[in-house]
Amino acid sequence: MDEEIRVVLFGTGGYAANYLEALKKPRRDSVRLAGAVDPYARDFTACPLYADAETMFREARPHIAVIGTPIQFHAEQAELAFAHGCHVVLEKPIAATVESARSLLRARDQAGKLLNVDYQLCYDPAIRAMKADADAGLFGAPVSLRALVLWPRERTYFQRGSGWAGKKFDAQGRPVFDSVLNNATAHYLMNMLFMTGAPAENIQCATFRANPVETYDTAVMKGTSAGADIFIAVSHALALPEKTGPILEYRYERATVRWTRLGDDHAPLTASFADGRVKTYGTVDEPYMENLWNMVDAIREGTDILCTGETALLQTMAVERMREIQPESTPFPEVWIRREENLHWVPGLADALRRCYDRQELPHWDLSASSLTEENSHTILKLK
Ligand SMILES: NC(=O)c1ccc[n+]([C@@H]2O[C@H](COP(=O)([O-])OP(=O)(O)OC[C@H]3O[C@@H](n4cnc5c(N)ncnc54)[C@H](O)[C@@H]3O)[C@@H](O)[C@H]2O)c1
Repeated sequence: MDEEIRVVLFGTGGYAANYLEALKKPRRDSVRLAGAVDPYARDFTACPLYADAETMFREARPHIAVIGTPIQFHAEQAELAFAHGCHVVLEKPIAATVESARSLLRARDQAGKLLNVDYQLCYDPAIRAMKADADAGLFGAPVSLRALVLWPRERTYFQRGSGWAGKKFDAQGRPVFDSVLNNATAHYLMNMLFMTGAPAENIQCATFRANPVETYDTAVMKGTSAGADIFIAVSHALALPEKTGPILEYRYERATVRWTRLGDDHAPLTASFADGRVKTYGTVDEPYMENLWNMVDAIREGTDILCTGETALLQTMAVERMREIQPESTPFPEVWIRREENLHWVPGLADALRRCYDRQELPHWDLSASSLTEENSHTILKLK
């Protein structure tokens, strides 16, 4: 019988509720939910709910702290958990800033404990099998990796939780820097850097906003990583039927890896080789909670951490560099924005971003035009 592993939670609702569900039916023996802190939890009965973290650490004596709180709390809560001798399972992104992420990594090393970060794709068996082939040199060197993620989000998304969505800082002055590329679509920027295993360099970017956010809800970024071109275009400022992707296409010297999710249709992850062979890796399921079981296995059996803090830091470095390049996003022209009761979106944006993706180019939109659609048709005419 395995020795018991006691788990505590920072955060019990929102995405963190998945950990509660997972711990009701643990996929490993002798793993028990021992306590939680969440100042906003109401009618919570799943385990002892503590008023403060110090009391929780003292009474619950946890081995693992799961941190599923808003971004601004990640670094301070993870450091506290390391100081109390816990391993840490952390929701993405690792932290709001590179400086706080590095401080968190130092705390991990001083404590001699383990950390993993929840970028689901890093735990996905199909992605891992494909990456093993890439790392073994089967595809040759990476040439060009690109991603397109068009995910509409309604007003309720931007108002969720304690009001931190799209904020630069919270009311207490903690950095947040929540944005489309640091939250919902962060997985796909992360995945390109997970594949190259190197920081994004030579970054150029353009960020925009249609929704009432301080950061941005639309972004296009290009750069290089490990000598390959990288490109990503993402947005939330779209009509619901325009939902597209992720579309991932990673070109290597000898093969092109593709994965597309169109609606509910999960195409398998494939590598198409220059000689006509196609290798299929199966469906990418982006499995929930594999990060938790990965941590249990790493503690008990010494298995690898599948998404390390250093890997997660690559994503935080890239979005921080984008902030340095463009501290203020560009508001979409008011006449471009369609303001419906629960949705702010920009007609023509989905097509325009797809064109950026096709050409791997930043947008060159004429913001004085009366609509984005019109501007794009000008661009097409000019190209012809
Ligand atoms: N891996 C994924 O696919 C995925 C998906 C969604 C969200 N997330 C991440 O999960 C985290 C939380 O996002 P969310 O949208 O669920 O946020 P949320 O605002 O719903 O908050 C999550 C929980 O944390 C609690 N909380 C807030 N402040 C707290 C504090 N100081 N101490 C303890 N608990 C506190 C809230 O009450 C809530 O129960 C973010 O880092 C986000 O990026 C990851």
